[in-house]
Amino acid sequence: MKRIAVLTSGGDAPGMNAAIRAVVRTGIEQGYEVYGVRHGYTGLMAADWNLLNRRDVGGIMQKGGTILGSARSLKFETEAGRRLAVQKMEEAGIEALIVIGGNGSQSGSYMLSQMGFPVVGIASTIDNDLYGSDLTLGVDTALNVALESIDRLRNTAASHNRAFLVEVMGRNCGYLALMTAIAGGAEAFVIPEVEIDPEKIAAELSDAYLRGKTHAIVVVAEGSHNNASKLLTHFQQHHKRIGFKLRATILGYVQRGGTPGVFDRILGTELGASAIQFVANKQFGCLTGRVRGEVVATPLDVVVSTPKKLPPNLLKIARILAQ
Ligand code: F6P
Repeated sequence: MKRIAVLTSGGDAPGMNAAIRAVVRTGIEQGYEVYGVRHGYTGLMAADWNLLNRRDVGGIMQKGGTILGSARSLKFETEAGRRLAVQKMEEAGIEALIVIGGNGSQSGSYMLSQMGFPVVGIASTIDNDLYGSDLTLGVDTALNVALESIDRLRNTAASHNRAFLVEVMGRNCGYLALMTAIAGGAEAFVIPEVEIDPEKIAAELSDAYLRGKTHAIVVVAEGSHNNASKLLTHFQQHHKRIGFKLRATILGYVQRGGTPGVFDRILGTELGASAIQFVANKQFGCLTGRVRGEVVATPLDVVVSTPKKLPPNLLKIARILAQ
Protein backbone atom coordinates (compact mmCIF):
# COMPACT_ATOMS: atom_id res chain seq x y z
CA MET A 1 0.00 0.00 0.00
CA LYS A 2 1.47 3.32 -1.03
CA ARG A 3 -1.24 5.95 -1.39
CA ILE A 4 -3.48 7.06 1.48
CA ALA A 5 -5.75 10.01 2.22
CA VAL A 6 -6.68 12.05 5.29
CA LEU A 7 -9.73 14.22 5.91
CA THR A 8 -11.29 16.26 8.70
CA SER A 9 -15.05 16.09 9.08
CA GLY A 10 -17.88 17.54 11.20
CA GLY A 11 -17.25 20.30 13.71
CA ASP A 12 -13.66 21.51 13.53
CA ALA A 13 -11.71 21.04 16.74
CA PRO A 14 -8.49 22.65 17.99
CA GLY A 15 -5.70 20.11 17.46
CA MET A 16 -6.94 18.79 14.12
CA ASN A 17 -4.00 20.49 12.41
CA ALA A 18 -1.53 18.78 14.74
CA ALA A 19 -3.12 15.45 13.76
CA ILE A 20 -2.93 16.28 10.02
CA ARG A 21 0.72 17.26 10.41
CA ALA A 22 1.54 14.04 12.22
CA VAL A 23 -0.33 11.91 9.67
CA VAL A 24 1.50 13.56 6.77
CA ARG A 25 4.98 13.53 8.26
CA THR A 26 4.91 10.08 9.82
CA GLY A 27 3.12 8.79 6.72
CA ILE A 28 5.87 10.08 4.42
CA GLU A 29 8.43 8.63 6.82
CA GLN A 30 6.79 5.21 6.36
CA GLY A 31 6.88 5.58 2.57
CA TYR A 32 3.26 6.63 1.88
CA GLU A 33 1.97 9.30 -0.45
CA VAL A 34 -0.49 11.22 1.72
CA TYR A 35 -3.37 13.08 0.06
CA GLY A 36 -5.26 15.78 1.94
CA VAL A 37 -9.00 15.79 1.17
CA ARG A 38 -10.70 19.19 1.25
CA HIS A 39 -13.99 19.67 3.15
CA GLY A 40 -14.44 16.20 4.56
CA TYR A 41 -16.71 13.67 2.90
CA THR A 42 -17.98 16.32 0.47
CA GLY A 43 -14.48 16.58 -0.99
CA LEU A 44 -14.04 12.82 -0.91
CA MET A 45 -17.07 12.30 -3.19
CA ALA A 46 -15.73 15.00 -5.55
CA ALA A 47 -12.13 13.70 -5.56
CA ASP A 48 -11.12 17.11 -4.21
CA TRP A 49 -7.69 16.32 -2.82
CA ASN A 50 -4.03 16.97 -3.34
CA LEU A 51 -0.73 15.41 -2.42
CA LEU A 52 0.78 16.87 0.74
CA ASN A 53 4.49 17.11 1.41
CA ARG A 54 6.30 17.78 4.66
CA ARG A 55 6.44 21.53 4.01
CA ASP A 56 2.71 21.77 3.25
CA VAL A 57 2.01 21.00 6.90
CA GLY A 58 4.69 23.33 8.31
CA GLY A 59 3.52 26.06 10.71
CA ILE A 60 -0.02 24.68 11.07
CA MET A 61 0.12 23.18 14.54
CA GLN A 62 -0.58 26.49 16.28
CA LYS A 63 -3.60 27.24 14.08
CA GLY A 64 -7.17 26.58 15.20
CA GLY A 65 -9.69 25.00 12.84
CA THR A 66 -8.50 22.67 10.11
CA ILE A 67 -6.34 23.56 7.12
CA LEU A 68 -8.17 20.92 5.09
CA GLY A 69 -11.59 22.45 5.74
CA SER A 70 -14.54 20.50 7.06
CA ALA A 71 -18.19 19.88 6.22
CA ARG A 72 -21.29 17.99 7.24
CA SER A 73 -22.49 16.04 4.20
CA LEU A 74 -26.04 14.75 3.83
CA LYS A 75 -25.11 13.11 0.52
CA PHE A 76 -22.48 10.97 2.21
CA GLU A 77 -25.17 9.63 4.54
CA THR A 78 -26.72 7.90 1.51
CA GLU A 79 -25.36 4.63 0.18
CA ALA A 80 -24.97 6.19 -3.26
CA GLY A 81 -22.80 8.94 -1.77
CA ARG A 82 -20.56 6.45 0.01
CA ARG A 83 -20.25 4.29 -3.13
CA LEU A 84 -19.22 7.37 -5.07
CA ALA A 85 -16.53 8.16 -2.49
CA VAL A 86 -15.12 4.62 -2.65
CA GLN A 87 -15.18 4.70 -6.45
CA LYS A 88 -13.27 8.01 -6.52
CA MET A 89 -10.64 6.69 -4.12
CA GLU A 90 -10.23 3.45 -6.05
CA GLU A 91 -9.86 5.33 -9.35
CA ALA A 92 -7.11 7.45 -7.77
CA GLY A 93 -5.35 4.42 -6.27
CA ILE A 94 -6.02 5.58 -2.69
CA GLU A 95 -5.90 2.44 -0.59
CA ALA A 96 -6.72 3.68 2.91
CA LEU A 97 -8.42 6.65 4.53
CA ILE A 98 -7.82 8.39 7.86
CA VAL A 99 -10.88 10.23 9.20
CA ILE A 100 -10.34 12.90 11.86
CA GLY A 101 -13.71 13.69 13.44
CA GLY A 102 -16.41 12.98 15.98
CA ASN A 103 -19.58 10.95 16.21
CA GLY A 104 -21.18 11.61 12.82
CA SER A 105 -17.83 11.40 11.03
CA GLN A 106 -16.93 8.08 12.64
CA SER A 107 -20.36 6.69 11.75
CA GLY A 108 -19.31 7.56 8.18
CA SER A 109 -15.99 5.76 8.57
CA TYR A 110 -17.78 2.76 10.05
CA MET A 111 -20.05 2.63 6.97
CA LEU A 112 -17.01 2.81 4.68
CA SER A 113 -15.30 0.01 6.55
CA GLN A 114 -18.54 -2.04 6.31
CA MET A 115 -18.18 -1.65 2.55
CA GLY A 116 -14.71 -3.19 2.82
CA PHE A 117 -12.73 0.06 2.51
CA PRO A 118 -9.71 0.32 4.87
CA VAL A 119 -10.33 3.16 7.34
CA VAL A 120 -8.77 4.41 10.56
CA GLY A 121 -10.53 7.08 12.64
CA ILE A 122 -8.99 9.71 14.91
CA ALA A 123 -11.19 10.71 17.88
CA SER A 124 -11.82 14.41 17.50
CA THR A 125 -14.68 16.56 18.78
CA ILE A 126 -14.97 19.32 21.35
CA ASP A 127 -18.11 17.59 22.72
CA ASN A 128 -16.24 14.59 24.21
CA ASP A 129 -19.21 12.40 23.36
CA LEU A 130 -17.28 9.80 21.36
CA TYR A 131 -16.51 6.40 22.85
CA GLY A 132 -12.91 5.21 22.39
CA SER A 133 -10.93 8.11 23.87
CA ASP A 134 -11.15 9.43 27.42
CA LEU A 135 -10.66 12.90 26.01
CA THR A 136 -11.21 13.59 22.34
CA LEU A 137 -9.13 16.05 20.37
CA GLY A 138 -10.21 19.66 20.97
CA VAL A 139 -11.95 19.20 24.32
CA ASP A 140 -9.15 20.61 26.42
CA THR A 141 -8.77 23.80 24.37
CA ALA A 142 -12.55 24.31 24.20
CA LEU A 143 -12.74 23.93 27.98
CA ASN A 144 -10.04 26.52 28.49
CA VAL A 145 -11.88 28.96 26.22
CA ALA A 146 -15.11 28.39 28.16
CA LEU A 147 -13.27 28.79 31.44
CA GLU A 148 -11.68 32.08 30.45
CA SER A 149 -15.12 33.37 29.50
CA ILE A 150 -16.58 32.30 32.86
CA ASP A 151 -13.78 34.10 34.70
CA ARG A 152 -14.53 37.26 32.73
CA LEU A 153 -18.27 36.97 33.27
CA ARG A 154 -17.71 36.55 36.98
CA ASN A 155 -15.99 39.96 37.13
CA THR A 156 -18.90 41.78 35.58
CA ALA A 157 -21.47 39.65 37.45
CA ALA A 158 -19.91 40.54 40.80
CA SER A 159 -19.77 44.23 39.92
CA HIS A 160 -23.51 44.33 39.22
CA ASN A 161 -24.80 41.73 41.67
CA ARG A 162 -26.01 39.57 38.79
CA ALA A 163 -26.47 35.90 38.04
CA PHE A 164 -25.28 34.70 34.63
CA LEU A 165 -26.61 31.75 32.70
CA VAL A 166 -23.71 30.67 30.51
CA GLU A 167 -24.56 28.26 27.72
CA VAL A 168 -21.77 26.06 26.41
CA MET A 169 -21.69 23.71 23.42
CA GLY A 170 -21.66 19.91 23.57
CA ARG A 171 -24.63 18.86 21.45
CA ASN A 172 -26.49 16.22 23.56
CA CYS A 173 -23.62 15.70 25.96
CA GLY A 174 -23.06 17.59 29.22
CA TYR A 175 -19.31 16.99 29.46
CA LEU A 176 -18.20 20.52 28.49
CA ALA A 177 -20.80 22.05 30.80
CA LEU A 178 -19.92 19.81 33.75
CA MET A 179 -16.18 20.42 33.49
CA THR A 180 -16.63 24.14 32.91
CA ALA A 181 -18.84 24.29 35.99
CA ILE A 182 -16.29 22.48 38.14
CA ALA A 183 -13.25 24.39 36.91
CA GLY A 184 -15.11 27.71 36.88
CA GLY A 185 -16.54 27.29 40.38
CA ALA A 186 -20.11 27.71 39.11
CA GLU A 187 -22.98 27.86 41.58
CA ALA A 188 -25.09 25.45 39.52
CA PHE A 189 -25.10 23.53 36.24
CA VAL A 190 -27.71 22.14 33.89
CA ILE A 191 -26.88 19.15 31.69
CA PRO A 192 -28.95 16.88 29.44
CA GLU A 193 -27.96 13.73 31.35
CA VAL A 194 -29.67 14.97 34.52
CA GLU A 195 -32.70 17.07 33.75
CA ILE A 196 -33.42 19.47 36.54
CA ASP A 197 -36.53 21.45 37.48
CA PRO A 198 -35.84 25.17 36.83
CA GLU A 199 -37.45 25.82 40.22
CA LYS A 200 -34.57 23.96 41.84
CA ILE A 201 -32.04 26.22 40.13
CA ALA A 202 -34.14 29.24 41.14
CA ALA A 203 -34.03 28.03 44.75
CA GLU A 204 -30.24 27.55 44.59
CA LEU A 205 -29.77 31.07 43.21
CA SER A 206 -32.04 32.53 45.82
CA ASP A 207 -30.15 30.68 48.57
CA ALA A 208 -26.84 31.99 47.23
CA TYR A 209 -28.27 35.53 47.21
CA LEU A 210 -29.52 35.25 50.76
CA ARG A 211 -26.15 33.86 51.88
CA GLY A 212 -24.64 37.14 50.66
CA LYS A 213 -22.98 36.02 47.43
CA THR A 214 -22.27 38.95 45.15
CA HIS A 215 -22.89 37.00 41.96
CA ALA A 216 -23.73 33.55 40.63
CA ILE A 217 -22.85 31.53 37.55
CA VAL A 218 -25.03 28.76 36.15
CA VAL A 219 -23.41 26.72 33.36
CA VAL A 220 -26.00 25.34 30.96
CA ALA A 221 -25.31 22.69 28.31
CA GLU A 222 -26.84 23.61 24.94
CA GLY A 223 -28.45 20.16 24.68
CA SER A 224 -30.41 20.49 27.94
CA HIS A 225 -34.16 20.57 27.68
CA ASN A 226 -34.02 23.85 29.59
CA ASN A 227 -31.40 25.76 27.61
CA ALA A 228 -30.21 29.25 28.62
CA SER A 229 -32.96 31.20 26.87
CA LYS A 230 -35.74 29.02 28.29
CA LEU A 231 -34.26 29.37 31.77
CA LEU A 232 -33.87 33.12 31.37
CA THR A 233 -37.53 33.49 30.42
CA HIS A 234 -38.55 31.31 33.34
CA PHE A 235 -36.35 33.10 35.86
CA GLN A 236 -37.25 36.59 34.69
CA GLN A 237 -40.73 35.95 35.94
CA HIS A 238 -39.29 35.12 39.35
CA HIS A 239 -36.40 37.54 39.75
CA LYS A 240 -37.67 39.12 42.93
CA ARG A 241 -37.61 35.69 44.55
CA ILE A 242 -34.17 34.92 43.11
CA GLY A 243 -32.64 38.20 44.26
CA PHE A 244 -29.95 38.54 41.57
CA LYS A 245 -30.66 40.32 38.32
CA LEU A 246 -30.22 37.91 35.45
CA ARG A 247 -28.29 37.82 32.19
CA ALA A 248 -27.62 35.01 29.71
CA THR A 249 -24.55 34.50 27.50
CA ILE A 250 -24.29 31.86 24.81
CA LEU A 251 -20.63 31.07 24.18
CA GLY A 252 -21.33 29.10 20.99
CA TYR A 253 -18.66 28.83 18.33
CA VAL A 254 -15.98 30.78 20.19
CA GLN A 255 -15.30 27.49 21.97
CA ARG A 256 -14.32 25.81 18.69
CA GLY A 257 -11.85 28.46 17.56
CA GLY A 258 -8.53 29.67 18.83
CA THR A 259 -5.05 28.40 19.33
CA PRO A 260 -4.88 24.76 20.39
CA GLY A 261 -3.34 24.29 23.82
CA VAL A 262 -0.40 22.03 24.58
CA PHE A 263 -2.65 19.08 25.47
CA ASP A 264 -4.44 19.09 22.11
CA ARG A 265 -1.23 19.61 20.15
CA ILE A 266 0.30 16.58 21.80
CA LEU A 267 -2.85 14.46 21.60
CA GLY A 268 -3.28 15.34 17.92
CA THR A 269 0.34 14.46 17.23
CA GLU A 270 0.12 11.21 19.13
CA LEU A 271 -3.16 10.10 17.50
CA GLY A 272 -2.00 11.16 14.02
CA ALA A 273 1.19 9.13 14.34
CA SER A 274 -0.69 6.14 15.75
CA ALA A 275 -3.19 6.23 12.87
CA ILE A 276 -0.29 5.76 10.46
CA GLN A 277 0.99 2.91 12.61
CA PHE A 278 -2.42 1.21 12.36
CA VAL A 279 -2.38 1.69 8.58
CA ALA A 280 1.12 0.19 8.40
CA ASN A 281 -0.03 -2.77 10.52
CA LYS A 282 -3.12 -3.14 8.30
CA GLN A 283 -5.28 -2.69 11.36
CA PHE A 284 -8.38 -1.10 9.87
CA GLY A 285 -11.97 -0.46 10.88
CA CYS A 286 -10.84 1.09 14.15
CA LEU A 287 -10.60 4.42 15.95
CA THR A 288 -7.44 5.63 17.60
CA GLY A 289 -7.86 7.34 20.97
CA ARG A 290 -6.17 7.64 24.34
CA VAL A 291 -7.67 5.52 27.11
CA ARG A 292 -6.18 5.61 30.63
CA GLY A 293 -2.99 7.15 29.24
CA GLU A 294 -2.47 4.57 26.49
CA VAL A 295 -3.12 5.00 22.78
CA VAL A 296 -5.52 2.22 21.83
CA ALA A 297 -7.52 1.08 18.82
CA THR A 298 -11.26 0.56 19.38
CA PRO A 299 -13.27 -1.21 16.66
CA LEU A 300 -15.56 1.26 14.87
CA ASP A 301 -18.66 -0.90 15.47
CA VAL A 302 -18.00 -0.58 19.22
CA VAL A 303 -17.35 3.17 18.86
CA VAL A 304 -20.65 3.86 17.09
CA SER A 305 -22.76 1.61 19.30
CA THR A 306 -21.42 2.52 22.77
CA PRO A 307 -22.64 5.67 24.51
CA LYS A 308 -19.97 7.58 26.37
CA LYS A 309 -20.85 8.23 30.00
CA LEU A 310 -19.95 11.24 32.11
CA PRO A 311 -17.41 10.45 34.85
CA PRO A 312 -19.80 9.60 37.77
CA ASN A 313 -17.32 10.68 40.46
CA LEU A 314 -17.00 14.18 38.97
CA LEU A 315 -20.75 14.50 38.63
CA LYS A 316 -21.10 13.76 42.34
CA ILE A 317 -18.29 16.10 43.35
CA ALA A 318 -19.69 18.89 41.15
CA ARG A 319 -23.00 18.80 43.02
CA ILE A 320 -21.29 19.09 46.40
CA LEU A 321 -18.90 21.87 45.33
CA ALA A 322 -21.60 24.00 43.74
CA GLN A 323 -23.20 24.70 47.14
O1 F6P B 1 -19.96 18.78 17.49
C1 F6P B 1 -19.34 19.98 17.70
C2 F6P B 1 -20.36 21.09 17.76
O2 F6P B 1 -19.67 22.31 17.94
C3 F6P B 1 -21.45 20.94 18.83
O3 F6P B 1 -21.00 21.30 20.11
C4 F6P B 1 -22.52 21.82 18.27
O4 F6P B 1 -23.79 21.44 18.76
C5 F6P B 1 -22.41 21.56 16.80
O5 F6P B 1 -21.08 21.16 16.55
C6 F6P B 1 -22.71 22.73 15.91
O6 F6P B 1 -22.75 22.27 14.61
P1 F6P B 1 -22.54 23.16 13.32
O7 F6P B 1 -21.09 23.51 13.24
O8 F6P B 1 -22.94 22.27 12.19
O9 F6P B 1 -23.41 24.37 13.47
